[in-house]
Amino acid sequence: MDRRKFIEIYGMFFTATTLLSFNSSISEEINDVVIDDKEKRDDYKLLNIPIIKAFTIGLNAPSAHNTQPWKFEIINPLEGLLYVDETKLLPKTDPSVRQIHISCGCFIEALAIGSIGIGFESEITLFPNDLYKHEDIGKKPVALIKLTQNKSLLKHPLFDYIFQRKTNRSVYYSDSFSKEDFEMVKQNCNIFYSQITYFKDFKEIENYKSFFSKAMQIEFNTLSTNEETRRMFRFNKNEAKIQRDGLTFEANGLNGLSLFFAKAFTKNTIESWNNKLTIEKGLANFNKSLDSSRDFIFFTTTNNTLLDQINVGRDFYQFCLSLAKNGFYCHPLNQVIQEYSEMDNIRKEFEKLTKTNEIKKIQMIIRIGRAKKPYKSYRRHIYDFIVQS
Ligand SMILES: Cc1cc2nc3c(=O)[nH]c(=O)nc-3n(C[C@H](O)[C@H](O)[C@H](O)COP(=O)(O)O)c2cc1C
Repeated sequence: MDRRKFIEIYGMFFTATTLLSFNSSISEEINDVVIDDKEKRDDYKLLNIPIIKAFTIGLNAPSAHNTQPWKFEIINPLEGLLYVDETKLLPKTDPSVRQIHISCGCFIEALAIGSIGIGFESEITLFPNDLYKHEDIGKKPVALIKLTQNKSLLKHPLFDYIFQRKTNRSVYYSDSFSKEDFEMVKQNCNIFYSQITYFKDFKEIENYKSFFSKAMQIEFNTLSTNEETRRMFRFNKNEAKIQRDGLTFEANGLNGLSLFFAKAFTKNTIESWNNKLTIEKGLANFNKSLDSSRDFIFFTTTNNTLLDQINVGRDFYQFCLSLAKNGFYCHPLNQVIQEYSEMDNIRKEFEKLTKTNEIKKIQMIIRIGRAKKPYKSYRRHIYDFIVQS
């Protein structure tokens, strides 16, 4: 839905300040640097309709490649439907749409915690029209959400971290996470569905790291997946600001001279992006960050249905918020578990090593630690996500 139509339909619920908040172009003129972070996400506080407020909070959730693969149907001010947006899939990197559904799980959890923060309980019915087939993606809903006002609700302890959590792909400080930290992070969140495994054995970790690095090399050197990343890549500040999704050099942890050179020499063309030198630089940057890490976690489920994927997304997101609460960052390293043919050999080898398979599935792999504050990524405007039945 475009902004004009959104205001036409929902405008009567809006205050003048709300309308101003959507007019980002005015403030963008003032000072790009100062307002940069504020302008990257819509502010739920300026909205009045509870279900739209809750959806707007949900948008802070992470998603694979920052595709934000969601669309919403508003039923009434307290009820709405969440769908996967079938135009935002990653068919090359995520042909099984598994990561898209994990991203939906993250969104649902952000909305559930967020609703409590605005005084509403949320009743979430997953797949209200049953689990669907691939061809039904975008046609059948992932979740029906019903809000009920409850003035006695206390703010959820993880609420504030919805707005602070960020993926951090940069170098992590050495020994910045411990077994005790892991226990603390686990205690501060609710992991309901998946098994989380934390590794401390040096040899085991080094072995896993070599898998993560090789898998990234495959992803870069596979034209179809590397091109899919280019499609989701925003090459300069202006592109990022207009598209409000995808990945950037800054989000990849580049700064200073490396950022300058990456921006100067990498062009948005098939030749430049897939050039040997560009790939080598990207890989070197990834390996530098990977090498700095000693702490890794796997999220595993015993089954691998859409429902499991949604649920592991909810767990992963809770864990991310708890990491943020305790001053830690994480960086997903999912290449080796992806299901496209070029990854088959190494994925199967990795599954053998970890005693998993396509049913008992490792759904998310993350590295954890403390690091410098990262870049804050954009989200599209709420009105972009709303569709009419
Ligand atoms: C299911 C899922 C898979 C992801 N996989 C990766 C990954 O393999 N590598 C990576 O760097 N980031 C990965 N991410 C992080 C997203 O790219 C990130 O959430 C997105 O760019 C938005 O940025 P933010 O988390 O800072 O808000 C993943 C996120 C999700 C939800």
